[in-house]
Amino acid sequence: MDLIHKVLNIVLPPITLILLLLFLPSFLFFKLISRIKRSINSEVVAGKVVLITGASSGIGEYLAYEYARRGACLALAARRQERLRAVADKARVLGSPDVIFIPTDISKVEDCERFINEAVDHFGKLDHLVNNAGIVQVDMFEDCKPISDSATLTNTNFWGSVYASHFAIPHLRKSKGRIVGISSIAGWCSVPRMSFYSASKAAITSFYETLRAEFGSDIRITIVTPGVVESEMSQGDSASKGQMDFVLAESTERCAKAIVDSACRGDRYLVEPSWARITFLIKVLCPEVVEWWLHSMIEKILCFEHLAYEYDRRGACLALVGRSKESLTQVAAMAELIVAPFLPIPRLSFYDASEAAVYSIRIRISEIGITIVIPGLIKSEMTREKILNQQVKLELKEEMRRVNFHSHDTITYLEVVFNFMLPLITGLNCLLGNDKSDGSRVHHRVCQSNCRWCMPSIIYFKYFCPDTVEWSNCLLLILTISI
Ligand SMILES: NC(=O)c1ccc[n+]([C@@H]2O[C@H](COP(=O)([O-])OP(=O)(O)OC[C@H]3O[C@@H](n4cnc5c(N)ncnc54)[C@H](OP(=O)(O)O)[C@@H]3O)[C@@H](O)[C@H]2O)c1
Repeated sequence: MDLIHKVLNIVLPPITLILLLLFLPSFLFFKLISRIKRSINSEVVAGKVVLITGASSGIGEYLAYEYARRGACLALAARRQERLRAVADKARVLGSPDVIFIPTDISKVEDCERFINEAVDHFGKLDHLVNNAGIVQVDMFEDCKPISDSATLTNTNFWGSVYASHFAIPHLRKSKGRIVGISSIAGWCSVPRMSFYSASKAAITSFYETLRAEFGSDIRITIVTPGVVESEMSQGDSASKGQMDFVLAESTERCAKAIVDSACRGDRYLVEPSWARITFLIKVLCPEVVEWWLHSMIEKILCFEHLAYEYDRRGACLALVGRSKESLTQVAAMAELIVAPFLPIPRLSFYDASEAAVYSIRIRISEIGITIVIPGLIKSEMTREKILNQQVKLELKEEMRRVNFHSHDTITYLEVVFNFMLPLITGLNCLLGNDKSDGSRVHHRVCQSNCRWCMPSIIYFKYFCPDTVEWSNCLLLILTISI
């Protein structure tokens, strides 16, 4: 068995690449035709019932207006009742025949159940569920204290969408409806200081992809990954702490229109703005470069903060300038602590509208080595007992099982770049001084285990033709169930 894996490790990556190159042109042509067909037969949502979470501001608010212009009936959910009322009034003016709003905290399962039930009781059906509500938290991981507070974010961004989908699914099945899931580019291009946000978005994308394979054509799912969009989230205090100012922001209205167009067209994925898709390609092909860039960006930000402390240590009077008063207050508090025993407390002034980046958090992630492990199917209690025996009741002979579940020692490194690019990337890393011999960096190396072959194959196909991966997943599910 080990020999088979050794051979596959060598042979499969180049074969996959060649197959992909041969397959890609016809696949892209097929996709183009399919998109034209879907654009022509775009769904008309007039009179249909659309539920939108997080409709009190930002993308959700503009989604409500866009659906309203097309004549859809709306059920709007969020926590701020007065904001919802104002959005509902405007949606009626824009053309929605019937709008209700239901104050809801989607991080609570009972609220989600009530919201869906009230909406279905009122309208009698449900056609689109737009899982949009979300929050952001901008902090270095080590400063997330108490750590249990961070659960609020995952409860909203991940569990909120899961709960709403759970209660909506029986109604969506009846109407052959659609789920529109708002994820984020941060789900694949992880942004420093937003570890929980990025993780929650990666989790929700993966959740929807799995549902899509399970539902097939019964319930369609459009996964939306916006870049930076103008909203309270991207322009509030948290965002200024995360330094999103330099990123080109998309207008909320244009983003909402693109989302509704895409949902009506029946797209599986939407990246908005579409140029942002390139970040995924770069991340897949050379993750080291992306991480190096993100890390140097954060070091630059931290450098300003350290500059403040350094002046502070030398007894200078400080005028701290930045957009976020909250961050400036934290730096000021820290500055007071530094000089308090020896020097008079500096004078601190705050000015609101400036580009200066002065922050209170100063943890250097470069000092910790992180190894990312993506195992394939590993023989363990989880896979043997839970996946095989309980869920799909698949009984295989031992020899057959061994084909799928190879014995596994330890997978220490992950291969995500082409083998031939590794020396180049590693060399670049050394030149830039990012590679330390003590192994204290984030590593992406050739996977040492005997299932090395499966990663590049899955990742290449998943990026270039995600539909194919989903079809094969569906097929696999049908096959295993029929066995
Ligand atoms: N803006 C961007 O750059 C960007 C980029 C990528 C992805 N996204 C995603 O797009 C979605 C919308 O974000 P946005 O930019 O429009 O931000 P936003 O203006 O802050 O809107 C967030 C919405 O979510 C609602 N919400 C938050 N927590 C909730 C809870 N526990 N229960 C119910 N509703 C809740 C808020 O309403 P209440 O406060 O009234 O409850 C608000 O209506 C989010 O999922 C976000 O992750 C945004």
